[in-house]
Amino acid sequence: MEIIIQHGELAHIPCDVLIVNLFEGVTTPGGATGAVDQALSGWITMRIAQAQFKGKARSVLEIPTFGKIPAKIVLVVGLGKADQFSLEDVRQAAGTAMKHAKSLKAETVATLLHGAGIAGLPAEGCTQAVVEGSLLGDYSFGKYLSPPEDGMVSIQRLLIVERNAAKLPEIEEGAATGRIIAEAVTMARDLINEPPDVVTPAFLAQSAQALAAEYGFFCEVWDETRIASERMHCLSMVGRGAINPPRFIRMEYTPQREAKQHICLIGKGLCYDSGGLSLKPGDSMRHMKSDMSGGAAVLAVMRIISQLHPAAAVTGLIPACENMIDGGAYKVDDILRARNGKTIEIDNTDAEGRLVLADALSYAAEHKFDATIDIATLTGGCVVALSRVWTGVMGNNQVLIDQLIAAGHEVGEKMWMLPFDQEVRDLLDSDIADIKNADGREATAIQGGMFLQEFAGTQPWVHLDIAGTSFLDKPRAYEQKGATGVPTRTLVEYLLRL
Ligand code: BES
Ligand code: MN
Ligand code: ZN
Repeated sequence: MEIIIQHGELAHIPCDVLIVNLFEGVTTPGGATGAVDQALSGWITMRIAQAQFKGKARSVLEIPTFGKIPAKIVLVVGLGKADQFSLEDVRQAAGTAMKHAKSLKAETVATLLHGAGIAGLPAEGCTQAVVEGSLLGDYSFGKYLSPPEDGMVSIQRLLIVERNAAKLPEIEEGAATGRIIAEAVTMARDLINEPPDVVTPAFLAQSAQALAAEYGFFCEVWDETRIASERMHCLSMVGRGAINPPRFIRMEYTPQREAKQHICLIGKGLCYDSGGLSLKPGDSMRHMKSDMSGGAAVLAVMRIISQLHPAAAVTGLIPACENMIDGGAYKVDDILRARNGKTIEIDNTDAEGRLVLADALSYAAEHKFDATIDIATLTGGCVVALSRVWTGVMGNNQVLIDQLIAAGHEVGEKMWMLPFDQEVRDLLDSDIADIKNADGREATAIQGGMFLQEFAGTQPWVHLDIAGTSFLDKPRAYEQKGATGVPTRTLVEYLLRL
């Protein structure tokens, strides 16, 4: 989609769909929507009354213009309550309107800048949110449909229309940032939505290397031999039952000026999770191609930061493998030795994510990072506890936990902390090894987090369980069924704030 910043009056713009807005409870629109209403001799006001359109968040009212203005259709998108309005509402309004425009098969869409008018939010942030919401709302994964993209043709161009010339430079800035972020989130969604026969560990590694070459960051890939010689025994063993061997991906973003902080991001890269010998029942195996969502988010973050240049240095690690079954598959009752030397008794081969992360966290703990954040589709228990709305947050450092929750709040990715507790940790005690990888069904999200803590060392560390939030079974404002790309935008916001 082409994004064009246009100086002018909305009512004069030729387009298929013109997007304006309305706060909840408003009956006579003002500002830019009011100006379009005037050009339409009050049709918007009339239709709002007739249709009893309330301006609720994520609601849309469609008004044909019958040639009275150059736009063919006006879409009024509800903004919700004015007193609680935020940039996330801007993003959702833009996403909702674009989805509606797409369903109308619009090619050219013009929009006002939600939030920058009566609500008085800064134009740069509003533009970024409009561009993010629009591009992410327009997203679809249609490449395997025959004919390709059947019924899902993307909108060709988006005109963001502003009448105040003084605001244009800010708006251009915001649009550029929004595009960089949304295109990387889109890439993450594509990697997750692609079938698992395509996105193998080697494919993920090649994607990382291609990104590194294009965006100018460092990338190194370890193959199965190197993984073994690096004592990443857990990654070797989890990947041993698969035809496609594991890879360990290490990326480095180095800022131009000497960095005061160095952050490590670790993404779970299970390209497929069948459960292994503790085989998942068919229903639970569905969508386990998305078990590399943490890894996809880390790739997206690397791509974004090498364009937005935060001050901190960032290392990105992805242990990538498939949890499959053949004669070589690791077994329940096996004892694995992680890179940091700790032994792990296998209680359940389906608790594999924490094993590959144990090696990656051990590696991170050897380097003195100021913060290490792992991102993982770790437990079904997290989905049960927190739904598909909230990402679970756990860790050993409350300051870092709070920073991530705050960054998530800013970008509309909700995060909720789960408590650590020694009595829960005791569930993982083993008689014959240092720890077990699972125990029954009690608070598995916390068990998973506390297992990881054993390998994170004493440095500040946070674990984000995105099992619920990474992949949806029904669409939301600027998200579709399938991959979301969560928590890419939170991590970028966190890094840019440092
Ligand atoms: N990848 C799954 C977790 C998952 C479940 C992600 C649902 C997305 C949606 C993970 O590897 C897993 O299988 N976890 C087990 C752990 C259990 C065996 C302790 C689970 O949650 O059931
Ligand atoms: Mn599993
Ligand atoms: Zn898994």
